[in-house]
Amino acid sequence: YEIYLGGMSGAVPRLPTDLTRLEELTEQRLGPGPVGYVAGSAGDGSTARANRAALERRRIVPRMLRDVHERDLSVEVLGRALPAPLALAPVGVLSIMHPDAESAAARAAAAQGVPYILSSASSTPMEQVAEAMGDAERWFQLYWPKDPQVALSFLNRAKAAGFTALVVTLDTPLLSWRPRDLDQAYLPFLRGVGTANYFSDPAFQAGLAKPVHEDPNAAVLHFVGMFADPGKTWPDLAFLRENWEGPIVLKGVLHPDDARLAADAGMDGVVVSNHGGRQVAGSVAAADALPRVVEAVGDRLTVLFDSGIRTGDDFKALALGARAVLLGRPYVYGLGLDGQPGVEHVIRCLLAELDLTLALCGHATPATVGPDDLLEGPA
Ligand code: FNR
Repeated sequence: YEIYLGGMSGAVPRLPTDLTRLEELTEQRLGPGPVGYVAGSAGDGSTARANRAALERRRIVPRMLRDVHERDLSVEVLGRALPAPLALAPVGVLSIMHPDAESAAARAAAAQGVPYILSSASSTPMEQVAEAMGDAERWFQLYWPKDPQVALSFLNRAKAAGFTALVVTLDTPLLSWRPRDLDQAYLPFLRGVGTANYFSDPAFQAGLAKPVHEDPNAAVLHFVGMFADPGKTWPDLAFLRENWEGPIVLKGVLHPDDARLAADAGMDGVVVSNHGGRQVAGSVAAADALPRVVEAVGDRLTVLFDSGIRTGDDFKALALGARAVLLGRPYVYGLGLDGQPGVEHVIRCLLAELDLTLALCGHATPATVGPDDLLEGPA
């Protein structure tokens, strides 16, 4: 109602409330390089399209006369009470969108009470982001560095900076074939963006012949070799389990057998995600993978979801069995267009719409949403 009431005195929102319009506006404002990086996907973009199609194909079947006068969006995730089933997904290199980068996104999340998941590849060191957030809920996303000393140092720093959960992204042992970036010859990392956690890390610095400021190119190349390790296998997770006391969530799980392996390895959760279609062209849509993973491990692990959440889709993901969803590109465009207020706008729109969707579909809480709320339409 805040928006409608504002409208009575002629005030309309600074940004559109249809979040699918933000990409185009951001491209007009910031140009094709940065937005190509954010919007771009693997190969011909078929996985990103499939993510949307799999959500759109599923239609909600609203229920009537179910007393939805009082509603409560809160959920428990990984043993923590959250005000809503939403967190901001880890997105690296945010300084290409806005000079306040991750700090602005993190402050917006804190102000709206949703957890912020900080990327390993952030443009801002994790300690600085933590400081911007005060006591607010934050999780750290790990791109598992090749050098175990750097990995350990990241875990220790994240713990000291108050990050409560570790989100280990498994689907990016290599960056994929991304034509929009290849055609623009645009890779933020090679421009030294997204390296802040590494360049500020004592264990990383110990591997350099010269300090970063004396030979930045060598530091970037060292980072590229360090960034991730395609040689890792399931038993390696023991290292993380031994060195991180809080919850560990594996991000990028699509196959039910991988979800079972995660549970067997003592993990606490998985994020069913295909990285927003950015890694494997032709991959299964995340929403099609979700029910199979929930069936395999829903009683053992917290199952989270991302890839394709735009508007109203969060309800569908909850109905397919996700405990909560992560929001990706829309908040990044909100940041590009209007900094912290832009991110807050996106979060508020999504939460208001989820609240209305719950109400209009006969639910007073996310806990009662389930497969019965959906009907699968024709492909
Ligand atoms: C990402 N994502 C990502 N994931 C991660 O674990 N670490 C990271 O550093 C990044 N970086 C990143 C950059 C950009 C520009 C994008 C768009 C995405 C993936 C992200 O966490 C999430 O899985 C997707 O964004 C979800 O898909 P949608 O909702 O954006 O389509």
